[in-house]
Amino acid sequence: MAEKLIVISGTKEEQYVSLLAQLRSLLEGETDLIANLANVSAVLKDAFDFFWVGFYLVKEDELVLGPFQGTLACTRIKKGKGVCGIAWQEATTQLVADVDAFPGHIACSSLSRSEIVIPLLRGNEVWGVLDIDSDKLGFFDKTDQCFLEKLCNDILSKLCQK
Ligand code: SME
Repeated sequence: MAEKLIVISGTKEEQYVSLLAQLRSLLEGETDLIANLANVSAVLKDAFDFFWVGFYLVKEDELVLGPFQGTLACTRIKKGKGVCGIAWQEATTQLVADVDAFPGHIACSSLSRSEIVIPLLRGNEVWGVLDIDSDKLGFFDKTDQCFLEKLCNDILSKLCQK
């Protein structure tokens, strides 16, 4: 794996296009899922002004904390609980402009103000979620959703073919 990715300046869309192209080729060279998820969380945290970036992986009837960048986080989330558990249950992205307005939101940090959670899909099955938090209200939009869904389901789900 190359030692660094280039984060270009420009619009958020241009940054995502550049970053996803680089990630796609970098991840192709490594088969270990945890290593790849760890690097993806590091790259996203580095490229954008996110407060917390990480993965929760489905293990039996729970989501269990996986590779992440940021502050201490809760380790286990039940299906249907919190933003992550709803994303798993519904198998749809949850874009939350104000976490205080989301019933059942699990506050791992009081600094988190908005959040996006994207399910990782293998066919119709959810095998994990990508969770990103911001310390700013309304930080995520449809551009984030579109590119993060591409990352999760065009790139990452191909790495998890078990
Ligand atoms: N806020 C999430 C919990 C995970 S932390 O944000 C890292 C939720 O409500 O599911």
